[in-house]
Amino acid sequence: MFTEAIDYIKSKGITEPKVGLILGSGLGDLADEIEESIQLDYSDIPNFPVSTVEGHDGKLVYGTLAGKKVIALKGRFHYYEGYDLDKVTFPVRIFNELGVESVVITNAAGGVNESFNPGDLMIITDHLNFTGSNPLIGQNISEHGPRFVDMTETYSLRGQQLLKDIAKDNDFPIKEGVYTWFTGPTYETPAEIRATRVMGGDAVGMSTVPEAIVAKHCGLEVFGISCITNLAAGMQAELNHEEVVEVSTKVKPRFKLLITELINQI
Ligand code: 6GU
Repeated sequence: MFTEAIDYIKSKGITEPKVGLILGSGLGDLADEIEESIQLDYSDIPNFPVSTVEGHDGKLVYGTLAGKKVIALKGRFHYYEGYDLDKVTFPVRIFNELGVESVVITNAAGGVNESFNPGDLMIITDHLNFTGSNPLIGQNISEHGPRFVDMTETYSLRGQQLLKDIAKDNDFPIKEGVYTWFTGPTYETPAEIRATRVMGGDAVGMSTVPEAIVAKHCGLEVFGISCITNLAAGMQAELNHEEVVEVSTKVKPRFKLLITELINQI
């Protein structure tokens, strides 16, 4: 499964990535800043899933960003597309096998915390898994990591501090909070959003958590950043995907600066 993909990727010159980057809805442009890049279509990589959502490109991009060798997923795989969680998290395992040490996971998310506004960036401090599923269910591959995984510090504390400092140094506000994973593809109901808030969630989304779990399992340092593209159900007028893409486009310059500077300082 993994070997064929790894062999193919290495044969194309992707040899020593240090940082993995997963780019969420509308945030894929950052991959275009990667210098001297090698780009592979997902469809050409053996066993790699192929993404289907608009605003997601379907390319693996390798090269230099902020002086470091990075490997970026331009377009990720979602549970709601019908992939099982092995497929959703396949790229994270590939990152690990290629020697990546840390992974920066980004997403577009709905704001639940009443102090959040569309266009805010949020440092993910922790997560809630409201799907009832987990990518590690099934036989454990002990070469990858332990059967029971400690999740006390899933999102690197050092990383959270770096992100706060970068925002401060560049004079922009940044939020912090708990990301809540729902399967989608429906957005949540207002009742689900009220429940999320009571239970400690600050933002909701359809990604990130399975990737973070698998990254943590195999010992990678995880950094999580949400772009709050809209407020969740019951907090604003109806939700639509175009709005998500539009707001993430507007926040792009700040988002790019934050990620590039993070990669520089990792
Ligand atoms: Cl409101 N919910 C979910 N699950 N994902 C989102 C969102 C809301 N807004 C952007 N992505």
